[in-house]
Amino acid sequence: MPIATIEWKNNCIRIINQTKLPLKLEHLDCRNIKTIWKAIKELQVRGAPAIGIAGALGVILGIKDFPGQDIEGFKKKLDQTVKYLASSRPTAVNLFWALERMKRRAYSNLNLSLPKIKELLLDEALKILEEDKSICRKMADYGAKLIHDGDTCLTVCNAGALATADYGTALGVFYRAKEKGRVFKVFACETRPLLQGARLTSWELKEHNIDVTLIADNTAGYLMKEGKIDKVFAGADRVAANGDTANKIGTFNLALLSHYHQIPFYIVAPSSTFDLKLKSGKSIPIEHRKPQEVICLQSKKVAHSQVKVYNPAFDVTLHKFIRAFVTEKGLIKPPFAKNIPNVIR
Ligand code: MRU
Repeated sequence: MPIATIEWKNNCIRIINQTKLPLKLEHLDCRNIKTIWKAIKELQVRGAPAIGIAGALGVILGIKDFPGQDIEGFKKKLDQTVKYLASSRPTAVNLFWALERMKRRAYSNLNLSLPKIKELLLDEALKILEEDKSICRKMADYGAKLIHDGDTCLTVCNAGALATADYGTALGVFYRAKEKGRVFKVFACETRPLLQGARLTSWELKEHNIDVTLIADNTAGYLMKEGKIDKVFAGADRVAANGDTANKIGTFNLALLSHYHQIPFYIVAPSSTFDLKLKSGKSIPIEHRKPQEVICLQSKKVAHSQVKVYNPAFDVTLHKFIRAFVTEKGLIKPPFAKNIPNVIR
């Protein structure tokens, strides 16, 4: 993938500032923990797997200047760093999964010197980044088998290269299908309020020569009723043990519409997005964001500035509306409560 969404370069985290796309392809070098926290919070870097990688590399920025050999002091610093990064966004479990991995790597090596522990932490963060690349490819391989010549697919938000270290989740399926010579089309929902579909997915798919058509979110039902959608592919921010899935707000609407029109609805997500501690989607924390995101469209006011706004960033799609999960370990089909824990351990 030519798009390097997130990298570790010259001792800083280099990200594509996604708030500037598609008008500008601009990089942002995050040299300290506050900058990467803000980058996650403000969606300069976004998408569940990319947020996880940003969190892991963020730990490096948080601890790298810790002086001396005081292990107790270092543990305190590490815990503070992890807690701070975890406070950036609540829904994508990949962030907490990555932070936990970082903590575990340090805590299981506390007998070593601090420079060595720091070295191991960088190794762990880079491992998380590299693993994401191969995971994307595996999901894409499994998912591409679901796409046939002549299919028209629908997607929402951005679950592509911009949301991961490589191929993406849902969009990776399209990239792989294209490489295999499949002829298909994609409709991308614009994804109000922050327009990840319009700004990011349509840009990304165009850049990779995928036949993409952008629609306003409220066009999806009409398209389905006209028989113009064969399959829906979406990413995920957190999947509970029973298969209930949190993803960008509006995903649940699409799943319901797909169910009504008998269109297969697939979730493409790595195991790091599954949260088996949660029995159902009821316990998934949903991020609520500021009113300005709805009042304004690309910083331009489109509503009364004092109007009350309800702005959840995610919704939960009930598992019964999901045909299958595409993971790096293969497809998971219903019954999810039995099959998810068997595949994702
Ligand atoms: O608020 P965002 O842009 O971070 O939301 C992202 C999504 O909802 C994606 O669909 C999800 O993280 C999967 S990304 C591979």
